[in-house]
Amino acid sequence: MSTTSSDLSGRTAVVTGAASGIGAATARLLAAGGARVALLARREDRLKELAAEIGTAVPVVVDVTDQASVDAAAARVRAELGRVDLVVNAAGVMLPNPVDDGRLDEWTRMIDTNVTGVLRVIRAFSADLVSAAAEGATADLVNISSIGAHMVFPNYGVYGATKAAVTFLSAALRSEYGPRDVRVTNVEPGLTDTELGRHTDNAELGLDGQLGEMFEAIGSLAPEDVADLVAYTVSRPRHVNLRQIVVLPTRQA
Ligand SMILES: NC(=O)c1ccc[n+]([C@@H]2O[C@H](COP(=O)([O-])OP(=O)(O)OC[C@H]3O[C@@H](n4cnc5c(N)ncnc54)[C@H](OP(=O)(O)O)[C@@H]3O)[C@@H](O)[C@H]2O)c1
Repeated sequence: MSTTSSDLSGRTAVVTGAASGIGAATARLLAAGGARVALLARREDRLKELAAEIGTAVPVVVDVTDQASVDAAAARVRAELGRVDLVVNAAGVMLPNPVDDGRLDEWTRMIDTNVTGVLRVIRAFSADLVSAAAEGATADLVNISSIGAHMVFPNYGVYGATKAAVTFLSAALRSEYGPRDVRVTNVEPGLTDTELGRHTDNAELGLDGQLGEMFEAIGSLAPEDVADLVAYTVSRPRHVNLRQIVVLPTRQA
């Protein structure tokens, strides 16, 4: 379902969250543009399936909340594909509940995955990005944040806070990496039809409740719509940094 022609031949990409949704769609599209892609997530069966479909991609199991797992994954990526010049941070979890419920378990999981996990992946590959850019290659860091970084939704306070952290981090990183020719792009999608809404244990807020009603009322983006923008962004000339993308289903505006 690509609408953009993106030449990414010669690029080496890491996509986290590649087991489903936006990460999987992005990995497919980057590979279609000619990039060699490492597929990172926890579910090995999903990664293997996608790797078989793509043909040239490498499945790498990782839990971004676990430092040893990220270290091992980064070593595996380098051994299989060499230096990385494109990193897409799409792994994430969304667990809505009222703050009053005091769900430290959910808060910890969201912060560890959406914030510290993103930082772990940046830590693992930033030297690659900087060195690729120093040699004149195009180098990209793409963080998938959310419109939830700006808009307040009741019961999504902690998720929104993690995404606000990602949006801020992207801006801050631009000041560190931009002068070294590494582009940083922050993508803030609205409602997108993926597995993200399936993990809440609050039936009233989940897909059979409030979230399902939102999908019905405003429709949604397909993960391929977001992937299309990522592929477009990373295939611009290296001096062009499309730094911030907010993309919503038309009726969500
Ligand atoms: N869907 C939306 O409406 C929407 C809107 C705005 C922003 N976003 C953001 O878009 C990103 C992608 O989400 P999605 O919508 O595509 O949902 P998704 O289908 O649930 O994808 C999330 C991915 O993250 C991976 N993941 C989760 N925890 C992980 C961990 N600890 N280590 C490694 N990988 C992990 C999952 O694979 P495994 O379970 O196999 O690890 C999965 O592939 C997220 O950051 C989300 O916050 C989504």
